Amino acid sequence: MTSDVIQPAGIREVAVIGLGLMGSGIAEIVARSGRRVAAIEVDQGFLNQGMARMHASLDRAVSRGKLTDTAREEILARIWPTADLTAGVAGADLVIEAIPERIELKKTLFAQLDEACRTDAILATNTSSLSVTEIAGGTRYPARVAGLHFFNPAPVMKLVEVISTVLTPPEIAETLALLSRDLGKTPIGVSDRAGFIVNALLLPYLNHAIWLLETAQATREDIDKAATAGLGLPMGPLTLLDLIGLDTSLAVLERLQAQFGGTRYTPAPLLRKLCDARLLGRKSGGGFYDYQRQGTPAAAAEDHRVAPVPAEVALIRGQGGLPGELADRITTVGISVVPKPSDKTGLVIVAAGPRHRVLDAALAAGHPADVIGVHFVKAGDGRPGLAELVLPDVTAAGTAAKSAALAARIGLNAVISRDRPGFLVEALAYAQFNDAVRMFQDGYASPADIDTAMMLGCGYPRGPLQLLDEAGPANVVSVLEAMHAATGDPAYTPVPLLAEYATAGTKFRS
Ligand code: CAA
Repeated sequence: MTSDVIQPAGIREVAVIGLGLMGSGIAEIVARSGRRVAAIEVDQGFLNQGMARMHASLDRAVSRGKLTDTAREEILARIWPTADLTAGVAGADLVIEAIPERIELKKTLFAQLDEACRTDAILATNTSSLSVTEIAGGTRYPARVAGLHFFNPAPVMKLVEVISTVLTPPEIAETLALLSRDLGKTPIGVSDRAGFIVNALLLPYLNHAIWLLETAQATREDIDKAATAGLGLPMGPLTLLDLIGLDTSLAVLERLQAQFGGTRYTPAPLLRKLCDARLLGRKSGGGFYDYQRQGTPAAAAEDHRVAPVPAEVALIRGQGGLPGELADRITTVGISVVPKPSDKTGLVIVAAGPRHRVLDAALAAGHPADVIGVHFVKAGDGRPGLAELVLPDVTAAGTAAKSAALAARIGLNAVISRDRPGFLVEALAYAQFNDAVRMFQDGYASPADIDTAMMLGCGYPRGPLQLLDEAGPANVVSVLEAMHAATGDPAYTPVPLLAEYATAGTKFRS
């Protein structure tokens, strides 16, 4: 064992064990950095699949002009695919394990590595759901075991979480951080705790999205659109779950649940059902979406466009206000706009705010069966915003289709949500902001690291704490309180630090 920091140039041979989605991506980026890679997979079929995935990824880079043919051949020449674990790890300076997330498999493997690796080799696990400390504790030299957590797709996402256990000397963590930088990634050092930074914030948010789907708050497409168009995220939560893998997501949630408890981490029943049905996401051909049958979402959008558009709309500006521009857009397409519903009114639009039920405004307006609330979400960064069309449960059956048809006619980018506090965008975002503040409050990570981790690990345009500052801590607190009052779920209680910052008018960043 060495106790010195090893510079990246000192790590020339790397063994990557397990050539699944993550392992093959990690092997590719290590080989791209000029290092020799033993790509180890004991199952010949998985080995072939992993190598095919690497070829496809490199081919894609060539076809996009990001890599030359020669460079691709050189990268591939540095990769040695093998099913022989002992031979593969024998010369390695660093071993990165990316096998399935089962503790008994990992412990058996690390016991084999004790025998097969050089004593000065560093052993890293890419686990996203298991205790690095438990894996290290089962080995002969636990001080050389740490976590090196990459994000999917590994060649693209810039973050690596470097996880230290209570036994990891700072030199090992520093060596792995320097290596991560040399691989073109940004390392963030954290201690061993369930979910580290990213998964502890991402998975409850993804789980929340499944609860929203399961409780008929919105369609899967609208839940995804709320995140992309409303929050500026690169993917909707249900699409992202399909990318990560539903089994992996369930495993992370179970570990978070075991460590922290509480409803944020209780896996939504639908997630378990899909896993039981082996609908595991993209890798199995289907999860929340079907990757073998194209066109389902587009067909659903079409239905709304063919629904009849009302000839007269009542626009009640209410307390929250509706942009004057909305009336102009409606009249421009030949629909009359009136300030109060009449016998001819086909749809009543009221201003909606995420803290208040649309139902109350609907009852006050009369015609509750024809009422829809509209809430505009500003996306920022000059992107077009999103309109949340909010349906109280007393709304008549055809009102959703009529509203969607109107939105399509006047060119509004819209989603439909049931009338629950937070609707879709704020419900998903503010609950995550609360989790992010709790993480800072616990002393686990700084606001800057939390924001960087979510930006580089998940492609957030800005981190959750910066987004919280932009939304205003006091506003976030009041929406969370409304969510708590409506659901009785203590998970939505604003954490004490958030409540304090809201009272003091303090920002988390700046
Ligand atoms: N492998 C290699 N490269 C890929 C790729 C893959 N699977 N998927 C996309 N790319 C590359 C493309 O080649 C393209 O590269 P260039 O810009 O160099 O041409 C680039 O990524 C962008 O791809 P696209 O234009 O096809 O698609 P996009 O712009 O929609 O981006 C995305 C795709 C990068 C995946 C983006 O949607 C994104 O950032 N999504 C969020 C992903 C995320 O949150 N990941 C973290 C999951 S959590 C996790 O992994 C941890 C865990 O333990 C569970």
